Amino acid sequence: MVIEIFVAKRTVPLTGKGTQLVEMGSGDPHYSDQPFEVHLPDDVVRDRVENVDSDEKTNGVIRLTDLRKSYGEVRAVRGVDVTIASGQTVAFLGPNGAGKTTTIDMMLGLVRPDSGNVSLFGLPPSDAVRAGAVGGMLQTGSLIEYLSVRELIKMVGSLYPHPLDLEEVLDLTGTGDIADRKTTKLSGGQTQRVRFAIALIADPDLLVLDEPTVALDVEGRRDFWNAMQAVTARGKTVIFATHYLEEADAYADRIILMARGQIVADGPPSEIKAKVGGRTIRASIPSVHRETLESIPGVVSASQHGEEIVLVCSDTASSDGALRDLLHRFPEARNIDVRGAGLEEAFLKLTSEDDVDSDAMDESR
Ligand SMILES: Nc1ncnc2c1ncn2[C@@H]1O[C@H](COP(=O)(O)OP(=O)(O)OP(=O)(O)O)[C@@H](O)[C@H]1O
Ligand SMILES: [Mg+2]
Repeated sequence: MVIEIFVAKRTVPLTGKGTQLVEMGSGDPHYSDQPFEVHLPDDVVRDRVENVDSDEKTNGVIRLTDLRKSYGEVRAVRGVDVTIASGQTVAFLGPNGAGKTTTIDMMLGLVRPDSGNVSLFGLPPSDAVRAGAVGGMLQTGSLIEYLSVRELIKMVGSLYPHPLDLEEVLDLTGTGDIADRKTTKLSGGQTQRVRFAIALIADPDLLVLDEPTVALDVEGRRDFWNAMQAVTARGKTVIFATHYLEEADAYADRIILMARGQIVADGPPSEIKAKVGGRTIRASIPSVHRETLESIPGVVSASQHGEEIVLVCSDTASSDGALRDLLHRFPEARNIDVRGAGLEEAFLKLTSEDDVDSDAMDESR
């Protein structure tokens, strides 16, 4: 359903009474108070997208400025500021309810912010989408029924000024062998691939994907990211939301960690992993002093309850080394358990360190 609305947004007649042009000439584009399915003439939009000036490219083609959105009492997004340069692959990582989808929907012009700006290639989202500069894959939404996969992708492509070749898209997204099947007869994984094809057919410079691999099995995930890498190799900018640190680490140049509507960390995967990729070692060891455990190289902190000990290490390399050392010193250790600190746990820690006002945290639950 949402996809249909999304497609419809691109085809809505673009003039009308009571509408107000989003200001372009001076300053940043911003949302008018009037309905925002308001657009610039096609040639102006295309010209802006094709001639993004070098300053805009260097300083970021995607700019989110102090974005805020509440749903009643729930403050879904609470002041997000992000600048993303052309050609980057960026992951929005965060637990359920962090505000990833709300941010992405505002980026695509599907949700109107309460305040703040979105600028894509110097344009408001609706104009950038209409010019074919942005392809979106939403978290929810079904495909238009009664069409074959090929017909659907072709139809969406026909809405854009410079679509990719249909066969190329079928090939890239692995939808060639289901091209003649009706959209109602697809598995979850096949549906995701078709949705990816829909996002890609406009040949967008920016792809925005909300949990693109959510319904895919291991092989499906691998195929998906292989296809995505072929796309990023063409210099596209990709923004995707995910719950999985591993996925963000493997495929993103930059990870933006969100929790409770705010950005709590932003940096290259190695930096983020160091913050949230901690590991704990648990074991039963009789008669050991906490100080001894803390002196083991790689151990950040140690705690002890009777025979049960817990060692916290910052990453896999440190926990591997600490475990070897522990077994060497205490060969009698039993019930050994090594695991990654849960992302949820890590987010909570980062958020609590981040001066978040507690009433807002309560509200967002
Ligand atoms: N349409 C809506 N009406 C009311 N509340 C909403 C709506 N959309 C989102 N929310 C709330 O806003 C907060 C952020 O939701 P959002 O969907 O942006 O999170 P998310 O990070 O995408 O989560 P998930 O990982 O579960 O997809 C949540 O508390 C959610 O319940
Ligand atoms: Mg979401």
